[in-house]
Amino acid sequence: MTGGQALGILALGAYAPQRVMRNEEFEAYLDTSDEWIVTRTGIRERRIAAEDEYTSDLAFKAVEDLLKRHPGALEGVDGVIVATNTPDALFPDTAALVQARFGIQGFAYDLLAGCPGWLYALAQAHAMVAAGLARKVLVVGAEALSKILDWNDRATAVLFGDAGGAAVVGRVREGFGFRSFVLGADGTGAKELYHACVAPRLPDGTSMRNRLHMNGREVFKFAVRVMNTATLEAIEKAGLTPEDIKVFVPHQANLRIIDAARERLGLPWERVVVNVDRYGNTSTASIPLALKEAVDAGRIQEGDHVLLVSFGAGLTWAAAVLTWGGA
Ligand code: ACO
Repeated sequence: MTGGQALGILALGAYAPQRVMRNEEFEAYLDTSDEWIVTRTGIRERRIAAEDEYTSDLAFKAVEDLLKRHPGALEGVDGVIVATNTPDALFPDTAALVQARFGIQGFAYDLLAGCPGWLYALAQAHAMVAAGLARKVLVVGAEALSKILDWNDRATAVLFGDAGGAAVVGRVREGFGFRSFVLGADGTGAKELYHACVAPRLPDGTSMRNRLHMNGREVFKFAVRVMNTATLEAIEKAGLTPEDIKVFVPHQANLRIIDAARERLGLPWERVVVNVDRYGNTSTASIPLALKEAVDAGRIQEGDHVLLVSFGAGLTWAAAVLTWGGA
């Protein structure tokens, strides 16, 4: 799909804060239970950033992890994209902070597109390298969602966690790398999942809260639908069939949503990467964190076809298929 130029992931890193918050901590002050949270979501615990730890800190740690695993990986990087829904500030962009921290020469901007932001950013990095605008691009997904949660809202507080993930996108050997991207949005669903920033209302007049607000039931239905359509479209665009997918890395929001997508694709659990039980929904960090764990566990080998998919606020969705390796 790149006119003879194979582009893929050259390096990967991720980080989750030290503090582990288990479901039992919610039982102490909310009308909820570990049993409810586990059966409805699959989440048992999540990581929470320290009081003075923000999205930029998580982004830095994810890039440091990437560098530890792949020394020299930032050589030839011509720009940084940070996908986040919880930037430290409205401006400057968090990517500029990453660019300065690691002394990268080149462009830097944030991308806001709900949880699929990291996949959107991979697609942009891919397009930029293919167009000759950069040799390599550093693509980060980082979130300090704990800073914007309503900790007294049991319907949202239990779902999210904090983390960061990072990848370098660039040229790989022929036969490897990205085979397809699918990106989509349906802004008519904006009111189902939001966090007010500058304007206190949506264009349709919906009054917005300054805390994460979600209509879980509507987002659930939307998620199941787009996880199915986007994955099948990405697989078809890649010239493959579901059986060809060796490893499926879905957005880690809810085990029931993952299971619905898995079943629709006819994939056994052994091919599905799940860590929602330990991290909850970390939004843009979700896929790189899960991908890194799968690589470390030896579950992804060179030449494997890997399927990524995500959904989130916007409402938005994205999927990608890549053939792993070739660096
Ligand atoms: N503990 C106990 N009860 C709860 C809790 C809780 N933590 N949360 C909600 N409930 C209650 C509700 O109040 C409701 O009670 P009611 O019937 O008296 O009104 C009842 O449980 C059932 O609520 P539902 O919403 O029908 O529960 P459901 O089985 O759908 O699970 C959930 C709720 C987990 C939120 C689910 O809808 C979901 O996962 N939705 C998708 C959310 C998601 O993935 N969001 C990520 C978006 S990505 C991004 O961009 C940020």
